[in-house]
Amino acid sequence: MKTLKIAIQKSGRLNEKSVELLKNCGLSFENYKSSLISPVSNFPLEILFLRDDDIPEYVQDGIADLGIVGENVIEETEVSVAYLQRLGFGKCSLKIAVTNNSDITDLSGLNGKSIATTYPAILSKFLKKENIQAEIRTISGSVEISPGLGLSDAICDLVSTGGTLKSNGLKPFADVMSSEAVLIGSKGSENDELIQELIQRIQSVLRAKE
Ligand code: PRP
Ligand code: ZN
Ligand code: MG
Repeated sequence: MKTLKIAIQKSGRLNEKSVELLKNCGLSFENYKSSLISPVSNFPLEILFLRDDDIPEYVQDGIADLGIVGENVIEETEVSVAYLQRLGFGKCSLKIAVTNNSDITDLSGLNGKSIATTYPAILSKFLKKENIQAEIRTISGSVEISPGLGLSDAICDLVSTGGTLKSNGLKPFADVMSSEAVLIGSKGSENDELIQELIQRIQSVLRAKE
């Protein structure tokens, strides 16, 4: 019998809730410690613990059959995958923010300015749509400290509780996209019997929470 692979976030906002969802589906496995792959003892499934940013490509390429990841990451990586189920957690939005004392107060104020982000593809589409000419500075993390260091005039990053923005003296002023965790599969995977079985278990866990 074949064994499916599901990729979930190794650490970060979605990790705990992803593990909890799979456990609530009755799947029995060791949680991530040092091994990046955990076999499920009572279902033909292996859990891969990965950086969330890598999950869409792993699924697109069929290295993982399934993945749990934020819509923001899927949108940014521009992959072709099947959306199997919205999961109702990990809700957040991608926002543009500036320092509390910035003179930028609306979108047009971004013309000629620089914006630091780890989401250059989504931001670039958004700016084009809004007809704003700004320079995008792509960095790979800790985006929130960039205006304070004089590295950019604004940032575009995920906001969940808003705590990270606040503690870095930033205020949001424009919404770029909203996002939540979703279950994705490789194209065509929705027809697989084992995957159907998993989706049904996930759906009953979600229904029980309503
Ligand atoms: C996001 C984002 C912020 C933080 C915001 O990171 O990059 O750093 O969450 O959350 P808050 O509004 O509740 O303070 P994420 O956990 O998605 O991890 P990653 O950027 O490392 O992928
Ligand atoms: Zn990430
Ligand atoms: Mg982050």
